[in-house]
Amino acid sequence: MAQASGTPDVPGMGRRQFMNFLTFGAVTGTALGALYPVVKYFIPPSAGGAGGGITAKDALGNDISVSEFLSNHKPGDRTLAQGLKGDPTYLVVQQDETLAEYGLNAVCTHLGCVVPWNASENKFICPCHGSQYNSEGKVVRGPAPLSLALVNANVEDDKVLFTPWKETDFRTGEKPWWT
Ligand code: FES
Repeated sequence: MAQASGTPDVPGMGRRQFMNFLTFGAVTGTALGALYPVVKYFIPPSAGGAGGGITAKDALGNDISVSEFLSNHKPGDRTLAQGLKGDPTYLVVQQDETLAEYGLNAVCTHLGCVVPWNASENKFICPCHGSQYNSEGKVVRGPAPLSLALVNANVEDDKVLFTPWKETDFRTGEKPWWT
């Protein structure tokens, strides 16, 4: 009996298990989906930098000291720091040797490569598909559809506080696309 029904049953078993797997996946997915807002509610904004601010950090995860940073960087420099949600974010040294009050999110608006600063071209040039952004992160060549996202970068107690940029994009005069 076992053998007679066992053999033809194998594909059936396989299918049932597969269906169980799918059902389990769907249920789990639904449960996780329902839990997401709850979990998100309990994560303080500082952890993800979602609603609040975060202190700019260097590659080692240490808070950047503005006085030290400015003594090591010259006007025109654009230097990566860790920003909101851990996004690589450029700090900009202005001609008057102060920090710009904005930072530039270095994530390319095309497919998300980190865009390096090219000082000799005075542009950000994406190595992935060649998009270009001017020195303020405004897109000047596609395929990237949008300019680099802005964040506020305010100096407080010799540290840089990054906060979400919700104001008009000063480069385009439009509402920010990233909020
Ligand atoms: S990801 Fe930057 S151009 Fe495609």
